[in-house]
Amino acid sequence: MLDLPGCVDDVVGTIGGSPLVGLRRLAGTHGAAVLAKLERCNPGGSVKDRPAWYIVRRAEQNGLLSPGGTIIESSSGNFGISLAMIGAARGYRVIVIVDPKTTAANLAMLRAFGAEVIVVDEQDDTGSYHKTRILLANRLHREIPGSFRPDQCFNPLNAQAHYAGTAVELIAQAGSGLAAVVLTVSTGGQLGGMSRYLAEHAPHVRVVAADAYGSAIFGDLSHAYLIPGVGLGWTPSNIDDLSRVDSIFKVSDEDAFLACRVLARHEGILVGGSTGAALCVALHLAQQYGPDRAVALLAADSGERYLQTIFDDGWLTERGLSADTSMAELHRRVDRLTPYSVCPLETANYRPELAGELESPYAAGLAVSGGTQR
Ligand SMILES: Cc1ncc(COP(=O)(O)O)c(C=O)c1O
Repeated sequence: MLDLPGCVDDVVGTIGGSPLVGLRRLAGTHGAAVLAKLERCNPGGSVKDRPAWYIVRRAEQNGLLSPGGTIIESSSGNFGISLAMIGAARGYRVIVIVDPKTTAANLAMLRAFGAEVIVVDEQDDTGSYHKTRILLANRLHREIPGSFRPDQCFNPLNAQAHYAGTAVELIAQAGSGLAAVVLTVSTGGQLGGMSRYLAEHAPHVRVVAADAYGSAIFGDLSHAYLIPGVGLGWTPSNIDDLSRVDSIFKVSDEDAFLACRVLARHEGILVGGSTGAALCVALHLAQQYGPDRAVALLAADSGERYLQTIFDDGWLTERGLSADTSMAELHRRVDRLTPYSVCPLETANYRPELAGELESPYAAGLAVSGGTQR
């Protein structure tokens, strides 16, 4: 046997263990420290490597996915890229259902990992493509023998990955001064899993959600917005208990993008738009604590994915958005933020019938054990 003491078996062995980094220049000296957990350090470049690998590994263990099998998923971005990377490393065919909003950079990355890409162009009743994509993925799953549906939207293992991994790491890294954690939301994996872990192991830590204006996760009407990776038309079932969520903030495209650009210029950290949204909220909350406390945010992905959008002055000005990079302007905007809700339970927008309507293999709540997957 070859002895390689400092080497992991394959690339999936490098998922997790992301660094927690202080944002000293941005946070200043008066309020709490602001800490960012940099999920871009995962091999697929985002937080989604965690649930993708957690779900695939469990499927392998349970015999739901065998060598040569096919993984089918609906994703316009990071989760699909994570699965494509894992599929390449483990020898699976990967089919990803995307929509016209999927960026050229993401399509290129999916194809670089050898994934097959199907683009749906039919909008659903919320004006987005989520439902059309999920429906097609489930239909293909029924048609393709030996296929597996991770189903990040309805599979509770999505949240479990963050409960068992991300949250444990964060609490160990941040220590006892941690006052609040800011998480962005789409499928609710991060928020559902981490809020459960924090309620059980660090109940003094506030859990604060950052969503986009235009998302209907916490009630409200859906409308178009630009922040990638955030938002949904309903409250996802991965957020199984909204009473564990302390408050919700909604962030505008312009504020989120300004925060990304300021973070790049003044801290040397390149992140995507969802992290910009979380950063706005974290800087706002940090003002409520002294320098002996910390506010942490999960920085979900890397700004390299958005060089042609968020970091392109022309792209921003074409959309009427500011191309500012001023720290003072960011702080002015952060000062003006107010919570969208301090009682998330009241604005819940659960749609329990959706999993069945969209033909999810997890609709019956049987998840990965038993016979819901073929
Ligand atoms: C960049 C980015 N940020 C935040 C999120 C939200 O995470 P979750 O789906 O766990 O709610 C996603 C999900 O796709 C994402 O890609």
